[in-house]
Amino acid sequence: MKFNVKLNSGNLLQANYPVLVVPAFEDPALPPDLRELDKLWKGVLASALKSEVLTADGELYIVPNPIGKGIHRIAFVGMGKSDQCDLEKLRNIAGTAANSLRKRDVGRICFLVEPFITFDYKIENVGQTLLEGALLGSYSFDQFKAEKDTHVLSNVELHLPKHINIKDLMPMLDETLALTTSTLMTRDWCNTPGNLATPTHLARLAKDIAKEAGLSVKVLDEKDCERLGMGSFLAVSRGSDEPPKFIVIDYKPKRHSKTICFVGKAITFDSGGISLKPGKDMHLMKADKGGGLAVLATMRTVGMLQPDNVRIIGIVPACENLPDGRATKPGDIVTTMGGKSIEVLNTDAEGRLILADGLEYGCSEYRPDAIIDVATLTGSCVIALGQDMSGYWTDDKNIAEAIEKAAEISGERTWRMPLHKPYAEQLKSDCADTANIGGPWGGSITAALFLKQFVGDTPWMHLDIAGPFWAEKSSGYLTKGATGYGPRLLYRFITQWAATVK
Ligand code: BES
Ligand code: ZN
Ligand code: ZN
Repeated sequence: MKFNVKLNSGNLLQANYPVLVVPAFEDPALPPDLRELDKLWKGVLASALKSEVLTADGELYIVPNPIGKGIHRIAFVGMGKSDQCDLEKLRNIAGTAANSLRKRDVGRICFLVEPFITFDYKIENVGQTLLEGALLGSYSFDQFKAEKDTHVLSNVELHLPKHINIKDLMPMLDETLALTTSTLMTRDWCNTPGNLATPTHLARLAKDIAKEAGLSVKVLDEKDCERLGMGSFLAVSRGSDEPPKFIVIDYKPKRHSKTICFVGKAITFDSGGISLKPGKDMHLMKADKGGGLAVLATMRTVGMLQPDNVRIIGIVPACENLPDGRATKPGDIVTTMGGKSIEVLNTDAEGRLILADGLEYGCSEYRPDAIIDVATLTGSCVIALGQDMSGYWTDDKNIAEAIEKAAEISGERTWRMPLHKPYAEQLKSDCADTANIGGPWGGSITAALFLKQFVGDTPWMHLDIAGPFWAEKSSGYLTKGATGYGPRLLYRFITQWAATVK
């Protein structure tokens, strides 16, 4: 995952790129920046644009250099209508274009940025979006194959107009690299199966991240968790021989006036436990650690980018959910560290059990100004919203505004869901303070209402990413398998929230 990302400017006639990527909107006109070059190239660019109709978004038409000196090829990329091209569409187009160039064995590409600008987007946002799309779209997961994907796009560059001072854009470049590499780290780890990404491996990863990014980290083992009374977390882990790990990473700048906690579900494999899942697609539950990985990757980003004035804590309870002679059984009653008793009516609703202790730990240990949990929590949320977006639940106005703005910037869609209080009735248990499941309808809502019981008055949001954590096929900047949904959204969320909350 080593990328070379570079910003260039200057006269295109003197440039020497293997491929320069240029947009071709519907009714294409030659971008003014290319007129001089086209003269030198004897008009091949203008005539290519006239004769070649690029109908699909991201489709390429490549024009080789007819004179042999300078830029080797111009790749026109189909863009559709210019009045319909928002940043997310641009990100997808950049992903498609970069990936098809990569597959043609192009290792270095450069985007001519200015003609890609639509609406009144700023040049740095457009540049960042092109880089993100290209870096995310050309991902492939070949760690465990003897035959490696030898097509590697290692250099992605931007060609900027003369009036831009490249130095001013360096923070954007750092931000882009931190966000994209953290997203790709999430993909890698979520694609890695349960035998190779155990709670112990995740604890190791957390320590590596903390070291690399200068954060403090602690990992509570089973004994520590027992001492703290985390009966709900440990109940999930009981059926597994893999030791559970409760991971805490802390970013604490010298001056900070607010604190935010993230709690991410990291079930390294969810078989359902005694309430065993059906066999079909069970292997996908290797990625039931997507929320935890999103939180770890967000902490990595935070460590790299050092946002001002806000302390950020990432809490990741990690364990397996397996059936066994010692496993928790339907009907068992367990108690959280805060003393709440839970009747476990279904052992497959395990994410909320580990989050219950995670949320209580975050609230009591750090007294945060906001606490956010992130989880591949319910199939019900996927039924409600499909795979293109997560659902979020909150009663807090600042949090809701911040997540909406963050999603707008990152392109990771999310949709507000209701914390409809009457449904909380469904969580009543005959013999404990609460049951871990509600009735058959509105399952993602009762899951949220279950979690709300563990945060007291702390402003809170629950983000259910069971839909967008996985892609059934590659498209745009998403590649088949784990999508790495989360870290880009959560980092944007932090900066938005920290800027508005006093
Ligand atoms: N990890 C699953 C949820 C899930 C489903 C994530 C599909 C990603 C894709 C979770 O632990 C689970 O099994 N939830 C149950 C809850 C039910 C028993 C109340 C579900 O959604 O079916
Ligand atoms: Zn489950
Ligand atoms: Zn699960």
